[in-house]
Amino acid sequence: MTLLAFETSCDETSVAIIRNGTVLSNCVSSQIALHAEYGGVVPELATREHLRNLLPVARTALHDAKISIPDLDAVAATRGPGLPSALMIGLKAGQALAFSLRKPFLGINHHEAHLYSPWTSGTPLRAAFDELQPNISLIVSGGHTMLVHVKGELNHELLGETVDDAAGECFDKIAKLIGLPYPGGPEIDRFAESGNPKAHDFPRPMIYEPNHDFSFSGLKTSVRYFLQKNPELLDDRKRLCDLCASVQAAIVDVLVVKTIKAAKKLAVRCVTASGGVTCNRALRQRLAVACQGAGFQLRLAEKSLCTDNAAMIGLLAERKLLAGAPPTPLDAEIQTSWSLSNLSAF
Ligand code: KG4
Ligand code: ZN
Repeated sequence: MTLLAFETSCDETSVAIIRNGTVLSNCVSSQIALHAEYGGVVPELATREHLRNLLPVARTALHDAKISIPDLDAVAATRGPGLPSALMIGLKAGQALAFSLRKPFLGINHHEAHLYSPWTSGTPLRAAFDELQPNISLIVSGGHTMLVHVKGELNHELLGETVDDAAGECFDKIAKLIGLPYPGGPEIDRFAESGNPKAHDFPRPMIYEPNHDFSFSGLKTSVRYFLQKNPELLDDRKRLCDLCASVQAAIVDVLVVKTIKAAKKLAVRCVTASGGVTCNRALRQRLAVACQGAGFQLRLAEKSLCTDNAAMIGLLAERKLLAGAPPTPLDAEIQTSWSLSNLSAF
């Protein structure tokens, strides 16, 4: 099967071509530079940029894969969750393409696709679903922070999620307080490299609560008060690095402790992680150490596939179609708040 997938849920315009579990091309046009000036994603700008970029990105994806449109057997797109007008661009493009080709179309849940991106590896990239085993999956990005029990292929349960800010949002908002550019996560990661994570003891919200939920807005507030009392700290590079390392340690601690706790409780043997924050070096390192200590296998999405991409959408769509999933109606609408808990089994 040869399938084309669109992903436009937030600020990345991406098109991928998948054939029999292999990624023939995965083109991503990032809008980070456009939104940096505003300190966050501006939905109206994101939508216009998706409109401008979708066809050129699709042409490149087809060209790189050496595929022509008539070669396609199916089309997929992210249906939700995400920014409403941004989602509409990819979904409607996918439905229109499928309609014109008279081929099946599948609307994919963005988070469900993230669950399988740690299993997408090798050269050329392929979805190694056959290696999939029950796992606890941490999805951690600018919009979401959640723990999912993946019981098997296409069978998962949302255990908990953030009750306020996502971890990436917390990185970005704290970076803004410090005066670092958007997106702040990679900036804090960079400064933290030469800082002391124990220099400041910031709160680890909900770390020992007996549920699988997260909360990060209190940490951001605590850093704001701290900076109001210690504004001079920002003028000294060494102290700035210590601050970044301490903030990062607080966020990473919560993510790691709660992930390992869930893995122990659900008695899985494997832990996975994906989403933009999974690029964070301290998180990758700490998860590796914690999993080794607790005897869990760890699968992290490749850095290039941690952030949003159409390859993960296409690989899951192909797998679902092959498993007998009914096509999504061509007039189906976006689902902006589509929770993993509301995925219908087929
Ligand atoms: O998955 P993603 O590209 O987009 C969505 O939010 O859906 O994730 C972007 C988020 C941003 O908040 C960004 O600051 C964060 O991922 N991020 C990082 C790092 N790289 C990206 N956070 C911490 N450390 C990083 N190295
Ligand atoms: Zn995402």
